[in-house]
Amino acid sequence: MEKRHSEKVTSRPSPSDLRDSAAKFIPSHPTLPKLKKAAAVCTACPLWKTGTQTVFGEGLPTAKVLFVGEQPGNDEDLAGKPFVGPAGKLLDQCLEEAGINRDEVYVTNAVKHFKWESKGKRRIHKKPNAREIAACRPWLDAEIDLLKPQVLVCLGATAAQALLGKEFRVSIQRGQFVESDLATHVMATVHPSSILRAPDDETRRREREQFVEDLKKIAPLL
Ligand code: URA
Ligand code: SF4
Repeated sequence: MEKRHSEKVTSRPSPSDLRDSAAKFIPSHPTLPKLKKAAAVCTACPLWKTGTQTVFGEGLPTAKVLFVGEQPGNDEDLAGKPFVGPAGKLLDQCLEEAGINRDEVYVTNAVKHFKWESKGKRRIHKKPNAREIAACRPWLDAEIDLLKPQVLVCLGATAAQALLGKEFRVSIQRGQFVESDLATHVMATVHPSSILRAPDDETRRREREQFVEDLKKIAPLL
């Protein structure tokens, strides 16, 4: 029989409300593999019902740089791995150009299930809301706690505003190191998907170049 979950109606998101938070799924004495296993059965927000599977972060536990995206996309949802689709391929190329070794990088997302709406036969990305971001936050916090990255990079506004505050403006503050206790060096830049969405080749080339410039600030810190 199909499981039924009643929708709780509240006037505003309540991130501290454990009923709406992944906190209760976090294992005691976590390791990255233990977290990944526990996250696979997370039901803390409604996105688990429509996503194929939880897409947990990936990388070596010794990684010194943590990249945080928004949420898995269509390809990631199907593969069960973050940043394997077009945005991930672009990120990989840019990391290489910026002299960052892939082994030093751990990639994850602010939200670990794919949120989508159908458009014809395609599933297109839908922005996660504040409540979903807050519900999923304990997974990200646990990843940060375990990795203790030297450098943390937010990719795009969702990750930047979740981790650096609602007032953070990627358009203004991109590529600048900001004061934060999340890691020794913390920066936000654009999301690689935004480069792919550029309206023409020239804009795309320029935005890609700026993105690589932002990433080049990282290698000397490692
Ligand atoms: N975009 C993201 O933010 N994360 C992914 O894993 C893939 C695309
Ligand atoms: Fe849990 Fe996050 Fe998936 Fe929501 S998006 S069900 S909080 S893992």
